[in-house]
Amino acid sequence: MTSSFNRHRRLRQTPGMRALVRETHLREEDFIYPVFVVEGEDTKNPIPSMPGIYQWSLDRVEEEIQEAVDLGIQSVILFGVPAEKDDIGSSAYDSAGIVQRALRQLKARFPALTLIADTCLCQFTDHGHCGVVKDGEILNDESLELLTKAAVSQAEAGADIIAPSNMMDGFTAAIREGLDHAGYTNVPVMSYSVKYASAFYGPFRDAAHSSPKSGDRKTYQMDPANRREALREAQSDKEEGADFLIVKPALSYLDVIREVREAQQLPIVAYNVSGEYSMVKAAAENGWVNEREIVLEKLTSMKRAGADLILTYHAKDACSWLNDTT
Ligand code: PBG
Ligand code: ZN
Repeated sequence: MTSSFNRHRRLRQTPGMRALVRETHLREEDFIYPVFVVEGEDTKNPIPSMPGIYQWSLDRVEEEIQEAVDLGIQSVILFGVPAEKDDIGSSAYDSAGIVQRALRQLKARFPALTLIADTCLCQFTDHGHCGVVKDGEILNDESLELLTKAAVSQAEAGADIIAPSNMMDGFTAAIREGLDHAGYTNVPVMSYSVKYASAFYGPFRDAAHSSPKSGDRKTYQMDPANRREALREAQSDKEEGADFLIVKPALSYLDVIREVREAQQLPIVAYNVSGEYSMVKAAAENGWVNEREIVLEKLTSMKRAGADLILTYHAKDACSWLNDTT
């Protein structure tokens, strides 16, 4: 017998002992659940690359929200799929746009739910870029004006939080100023502050019909190779008045979540994106992985890396698993 080494296994002997020393916990209120709203009626349109996720028309979306609320979800983020697109994304800042109508309806029906509006132009532009395009270039400052109009119209329609995802320079400052000027000084900005140009967004672009028709998003979204640049993006968004900082995607960027956590004091949101969801669903449907265990492990790793909140398509499942103590 020797006592000259550490007996780490002492604290792993029973479920009770392991629970005593667990360092990271998932809670229902950590999750933000994405919901796609689409024009039309009686629509619950499955997204083939995202099993379990649907596009909902406004006359049916309450089924989905009610189910989420019953499972313990306290915040949702809305993505709009409009019927009409044009080169300046007009339906993104139309008070009768799909997101604005969804916000008004859901605010009235679910007053206690936190409604977050994704603010971008790509679903609403015919070219599919997140800003105004001229001669093949995505114009920065011209885009800010339209994005600000979109944010203000979402706040007017009842958004509790504005979440701009466009990655133009200065978008946080422009939107903060626009909201303040319109009287929405108390509406927070959850900025997609560190957003990489990632292949993990593929299934989302099927769901939201938002693929760029030409080129890619690499002149505005970040190069996946860059770490220090993430810290610069987070810092500038903080200085511009962001209330939350999103890091996106999450799973391949846990190191970035950790670094932003250490450099900034604002709440950090990990965006567990569509491709990260679809890979797990595909493997689980084939019986190659245990979905429940793998999803809870993955979400736990995001919190362990330093995220306060997780935006995830797994949110409903995660809540039901957390409540299932069997
Ligand atoms: C729109 C937007 C995207 C996502 C969230 N908002 C797509 C993109 O930038 O191409 C990705 C979400 C996901 O993959 O789950 N700007
Ligand atoms: Zn966009």
